[in-house]
Amino acid sequence: MTAITHVVTIIGARPQFVKAAAVSRKLVEAGVRESLIHTGQHYDREMSAVFFQELRIPEPQENLGVGSGTHAVQTGEMMIGLERVLTSGLMPDCVMVYGDTNSTLAGAVVAAKLHIPVVHVEAGLRSFNRRMPEEINRIVTDRLAGLLFCPTASSIENLRSEGVTDGVHLTGDVMLDATRLFGDVARRKVPLDAVTRHAPGAYYAATVHRAENTDDPVRLAGIFEGLGRIGLPVVLPLHPRTRSRLRDIEVPANVETREPVGYLASLTLVRHARAVLTDSGGLQKEALWLGVPCITLRDETEWVETLEGGWNQLVGADPCRIEAAAARRPEDPVPAFAREGASERIVEILRHHF
Ligand code: UD1
Repeated sequence: MTAITHVVTIIGARPQFVKAAAVSRKLVEAGVRESLIHTGQHYDREMSAVFFQELRIPEPQENLGVGSGTHAVQTGEMMIGLERVLTSGLMPDCVMVYGDTNSTLAGAVVAAKLHIPVVHVEAGLRSFNRRMPEEINRIVTDRLAGLLFCPTASSIENLRSEGVTDGVHLTGDVMLDATRLFGDVARRKVPLDAVTRHAPGAYYAATVHRAENTDDPVRLAGIFEGLGRIGLPVVLPLHPRTRSRLRDIEVPANVETREPVGYLASLTLVRHARAVLTDSGGLQKEALWLGVPCITLRDETEWVETLEGGWNQLVGADPCRIEAAAARRPEDPVPAFAREGASERIVEILRHHF
């Protein structure tokens, strides 16, 4: 076992900027060199540059500028770019990848074939739905990783049932670290009236971006119908893909669509919402960590701990279930899942146990 001194971090999509921001700080504190590579999977200013500015993420060493495409085109172009960068003299001790996007998959496959140890942050999550591209990305990345940093006990259990036990660590959730760290910044710098004219508790915050919802006109129409039935205004920052699918959808009068918001504005919007309606993985957790109930617009979740006590309700894309869930309030205390301090634990493991 040797301690690492140089990590290459591969990121590309919105939630990865948030996760990497939390861990990067701890790497700097520990004196570990980090080289960031941005695949360019997300490239619009409000999908990428805003996060780098707000979260003070260092300029990436290289942006591959891959952009959008089919899964094969996008992942393939990332792999070509990553292989070029990783063989150009960088010589890291490991490659760190986050979550379950195509950038995660491309990074893991290229590093593994170059015999560079793969470190997976947010390992072991499963939806058990292989129609989701993210599920394929998770399974493959976990197979290739030598170090698997799991946020929850259930993610450890998922790996165990697949026979993966070596290199597995229960670290807690780096997104919780980010929520705590940047939640304070958001409180100071982005008050609610800078984000919306609505009073605290007088609106719902919503996001929809998953392919299974945006690319199925029946599901997308069901979600918008449900949002229209829940009474209060719904503030809905739109992922560009969702915006491009709205042509045939009737947006109800109480639904206020707007451009995507940065991380700080998103934390403020969530903190003061009556509830959050989302198909995002990250927002399900952020809502609960900020003490706000969540309604998940999917048929399953990887974050099963959030379902305890009715704090997170799975409603799919069914307007009746969306309406009924919005009318319910959880009575039990909010479930405490995932430990804080994951970023620090991850860096400690890298430094001493690699
Ligand atoms: C990706 C991840 C998903 C994650 C999400 C976070 C995969 C398979 N999915 O989904 O797990 O939850 O990021 O946001 O990697 N687009 C733009 N501008 C951008 C980025 C995207 O217009 O800056 C549009 C393009 O039309 C593109 C579409 O959004 O085709 C989808 O983008 P893509 O990168 O394929 O995946 P996401 O849906 O963002």
